[in-house]
Amino acid sequence: MEPQYTDLNTPCYFYDMDLLRETLGSISSHASPNGYKVHYALKANSNDRLLRTISQAGFGADCVSGNEIQKALETGFAPADIVFAGVGKADWEIDLALNHDIGFFNCESLPEIEVIAERAALKNKKTRIALRINPEIDAKTHYYITTGIEENKFGINREDLPRVLQTCRELDAVELKGLHVHIGSQITDMDVFKSLCIRVNELQEYFRREHIVIEHINVGGGLGINYEEPQDGPIPDFDSYFKTFREFLHLEPWQQLHFELGRAVTGQCGKLITRVLYVKDGIHTRFAVVDAGMTELIRPALYHAYHKITSPTSQRPEKKYDVVGPICESSDYFGKAIDLPELSRGDVLVIHTAGAYGEVMRSFYNLRDHLKFYYSDDMSRKHKI
Ligand code: LLP
Repeated sequence: MEPQYTDLNTPCYFYDMDLLRETLGSISSHASPNGYKVHYALKANSNDRLLRTISQAGFGADCVSGNEIQKALETGFAPADIVFAGVGKADWEIDLALNHDIGFFNCESLPEIEVIAERAALKNKKTRIALRINPEIDAKTHYYITTGIEENKFGINREDLPRVLQTCRELDAVELKGLHVHIGSQITDMDVFKSLCIRVNELQEYFRREHIVIEHINVGGGLGINYEEPQDGPIPDFDSYFKTFREFLHLEPWQQLHFELGRAVTGQCGKLITRVLYVKDGIHTRFAVVDAGMTELIRPALYHAYHKITSPTSQRPEKKYDVVGPICESSDYFGKAIDLPELSRGDVLVIHTAGAYGEVMRSFYNLRDHLKFYYSDDMSRKHKI
């Protein structure tokens, strides 16, 4: 049945909840038999409806702010299943996490560990921490979303480990129980994850020599998704992903492996829907000016990211367009020189694969209006996209 795109108020995000549930089911079916624990990275999308669906599916939460912790608690994640990462945890955020006895602090520096220990001691608490170690592995992805190489602000460098371990031994209020690494995002080459496994094995050797028992190993997130042809494979290849860790990471029976997937969970279930306001002929370029802008989806402007664009309302022969938004910035575009069926005012465009780092990165620049949201669960069959 033809979907009724014309009924939607644009610009809006549309979330396919069936696809989200299918994706969660696929992750669980590959992770659970191995005893792996997956924490969903809230930073990818912290929409309430999505979070409730994810918590109900038994996932944990990876948070990077006090407000994300608060949101995770409100949307049904168990405190023990929450991990708190980030280079700049403020005191109130640490206190909030301590008050709720969250699962783990993923710590990124020595001064941070000292502050966590100090604040835990004030509350007569002992809290579990994991060290985020910079594994110095190049994720071979976009420069802005590579995190595991040396000149990065993230993680503890290996040279600093002896000093950090010594401090952890001296501090009663923290229990060092975990090791955490994350090398970047949108990684589709499984060899990169294989290199990460090998590096984690080396790190484990180091901890063994230091007589530190690491019960939890958290390998971060980063699994990439298909932006080019989202319809071909809306569910990422979780089989190859988890298999890589099963094959190459040495795990003792008493150790638990954790993952922090964000993009791979929600990326494909979200679409940004927009309408053509004007078709404008430039000197060399034909512009389709649409009612969504970089304020609704900043990824093309910020990373030159590709998002597939289709028009469900025009079947006319194709022409080349630059699809641009109404924001007062030249970088406000969604696609350049792309082929689309001939467009006219009122045609609807679907910008695919916008479920991760879309809604959460929106802004109110130019005093933009509040966005609208539609969920497949609320729509009658004739409206489904
Ligand atoms: N864990 C840590 C420590 C992270 O820094 C991130 C993402 C994740 C997990 C989740 O990564 P994912 O599975 O989603 O790749 N705004 C950028 C992406 C920034 C990623 C930041 N860290 C984008 O739109 O591509």
